[in-house]
Amino acid sequence: MQVVKSISHLRVLLDEPRRSGRTIGLVPTMGALHAGHVRLIERAREDCEFVAVSIFVNPLQFERKDDLERYPRDLETDLDVCRRADVDVVFTPSATELYPTPPLCVVDVRQLADHLCGRFRPGHFSGVATVVLKLFQIVLPDRSYFGEKDAQQLAVVRRLARDFNIPVTIIGVPTVRDPDGLALSSRNRRLTPSERARATALYKALCEARSHIAGGITDAEEVTRRARAAISPDATVRLEYLEVVDADMQPVTVISGPVIVAGAMWVGETRLIDNLGCIPPAADLEA
Ligand code: PAJ
Repeated sequence: MQVVKSISHLRVLLDEPRRSGRTIGLVPTMGALHAGHVRLIERAREDCEFVAVSIFVNPLQFERKDDLERYPRDLETDLDVCRRADVDVVFTPSATELYPTPPLCVVDVRQLADHLCGRFRPGHFSGVATVVLKLFQIVLPDRSYFGEKDAQQLAVVRRLARDFNIPVTIIGVPTVRDPDGLALSSRNRRLTPSERARATALYKALCEARSHIAGGITDAEEVTRRARAAISPDATVRLEYLEVVDADMQPVTVISGPVIVAGAMWVGETRLIDNLGCIPPAADLEA
């Protein structure tokens, strides 16, 4: 496995597999790798002949400086994880390598960023789309892998590829969870044992929403009201949002087909997000 810090070195290294017609898969990450990231890498390994993983904590997508500074970083362990997962190349650029000067051109994400996390993290999805576009331009992957855990991000990346005619296939990978349902996240590392115990509240609320939708409740407000009631807010947890949206991340008022129920919850100083795809009984019959 090669570890590369410079864009020019990476381009030279990718030249051979590209010219020999090997399929190149890219898994973009911010490091602090866990089993969710590994699942993405495994999918890439199954599909592609050459697998590249990027590890870069992208300052452009952090709207809070303290969040950027506190983001977990553990490069040596990450490289071991990549080695074990049979990755071909890990791209670990510095911030100055990717942004030698503050960018004057960034990707403007429109309605896709109006709801869910976009509402609470202004500029976040512009930062994500900008760095993903840069990674696509640098690596020129045939396929790129993103987790369904970040449903809005996945929707943004799919539109990015489509709207900018990028010849890459975007693959969404199902969320990997701990046995008690908590979605794996690099941010889980920050939780104290008592916060970790409360962190499943979001998943439980999403499951509650899913069962109400499966049970035939079609009023989205009713669904979220009942699901919110499943979370008893206390000094440790605070729900930021719980919304029912369609595949374009637009709010749904009457549930008549497949939807996504997505939420964000603060546990102490840590913000966690999760979502579940939900199918109403009528749509289930039609499928
Ligand atoms: P990061 O949070 O490191 O996540 C990298 C990829 O792993 C994302 O596609 C994310 O959706 C996926 N992922 C995270 N947790 C997962 C889980 N429990 N199950 C399945 N997949 C999971 O998302 C980012 O980094 C950044 O925004 C990035 C796309 C790299 C751009 O900077």
